[in-house]
Amino acid sequence: MNDLTDYTIAHQGRRFTRICGLFFRLEKMMGFTLEKVVPWGRSFEEYVAMFALSEVDLQKFILGIGDGPASFNALIHERGGRMLSADPVYAFSGEQIRGRIEEIYDDTIEQVAANAEHLRLERFGSAAALGQVRLRAMERFLRDFEGGKRERRYLSAEFPDLPFADHSFDLALCSHLLFLYSEQLEQEFHLRSVMELYRVAREIRIFPLLDLSHQTSPHLQPVLAELKQAGLQANIERVDYEFQIGPKHMLRIMSD
Ligand SMILES: C[S@@+](CC[C@H](N)C(=O)[O-])C[C@H]1O[C@@H](n2cnc3c(N)ncnc32)[C@H](O)[C@@H]1O
Repeated sequence: MNDLTDYTIAHQGRRFTRICGLFFRLEKMMGFTLEKVVPWGRSFEEYVAMFALSEVDLQKFILGIGDGPASFNALIHERGGRMLSADPVYAFSGEQIRGRIEEIYDDTIEQVAANAEHLRLERFGSAAALGQVRLRAMERFLRDFEGGKRERRYLSAEFPDLPFADHSFDLALCSHLLFLYSEQLEQEFHLRSVMELYRVAREIRIFPLLDLSHQTSPHLQPVLAELKQAGLQANIERVDYEFQIGPKHMLRIMSD
């Protein structure tokens, strides 16, 4: 959801209006309004690439945390797979989310274009072409959302406390939330959220490990140390996905 538009705005001193759903979390305490959310979601193919998902992985019972309007859940469902997406933005209706996407679309694409030097836009062609890919993904999400919510495939829930029993999922995925927003989400939040993921899922994959200034997150080493202390196996693995220019690694944590 960030496409580095978040990064752009951070440097214009309007950071919180561009941190999409993250603003939601911060704003809740002060009275949240949808006008503050910038919904922006990735495609199924991007999820497969950034998490190095195999056909076997796609058969697992998957938790997507912070999925926003990404199309991954819709496509997993279409393929007959099983997954649940948890995100506080699902408290809104599909129409509300659609309206907000329409409102922010042009401005978001302008911000992507202004930051082209920090992004791998080549594979899309241009900021506008990237926008069309994102729009198609979000349209796919919107077509699936209300039905999926009734089927409890989309649930309004949030880090660091998840409403799931221990070991409910085979695999938990977290795209563009933990580590990316290192400045906004403190170390303690990261430690609690990762351990919570470990409680509810047998395997965890998190991407990216870079923050909004394209540096490896300062929370990564403390999280790795905590995992080691808990006796958990954690690997940093290279993946075939890059959007922010920088090392393309995901964190994989396994229970055995
Ligand atoms: C940058 S977007 C990423 C969307 C999607 N994962 C993707 O890669 O296209 C971040 C998402 O995190 C969600 N979010 C914010 N705070 C959260 C929290 N505490 N727990 C779970 N999700 C949260 C937002 O609502 C938003 O949808």
